[in-house]
Amino acid sequence: MAIEKTLILVKPDAFARGLTGEIIARFERKGLKIVAAKHLTVTEDLAKQHYAEHAERPFFGELVSFITSGPIVALVLEGESAIKAARQVIGATNPLEATTGSIRGDFAIEIGTNMVHGSDSPESGIREAGIFFPEL
Ligand code: TYD
Ligand code: MG
Repeated sequence: MAIEKTLILVKPDAFARGLTGEIIARFERKGLKIVAAKHLTVTEDLAKQHYAEHAERPFFGELVSFITSGPIVALVLEGESAIKAARQVIGATNPLEATTGSIRGDFAIEIGTNMVHGSDSPESGIREAGIFFPEL
């Protein structure tokens, strides 16, 4: 067990649907603490840096165009086992496989528009938080 940081993005679909507050509330109720937050529109450069691990995947182009398609909210959450805890709140990548009670299970259908990003390891959490919040 360790205190970790995770980068959360409330993606353009969730933001446009007015679900930002609902989503942030779920992380807070889980017990994660907000240590940074901002509203922004992701540039193509930022998107490519953030999703670099997926650069060779067939869905990369759509992923970059989706995440840059409208305003988002970026958050850094901190807490005990924050990576796993946040991913449990978010649910499986494919919303049709995400359990009811998770964000993706409750609010999304398509994999390409799955509401929220959460870092997948403590190292990714630090890397991704640094991309969105270089001042931290
Ligand atoms: P990934 O890092 O595998 O999922 P997660 O967000 O759960 O960590 O993929 C990043 C995003 O790419 C994912 O949230 C949605 C999109 N994506 C697709 O559009 N198609 C796919 O087949 C996969 C695996 C992901
Ligand atoms: Mg991922």
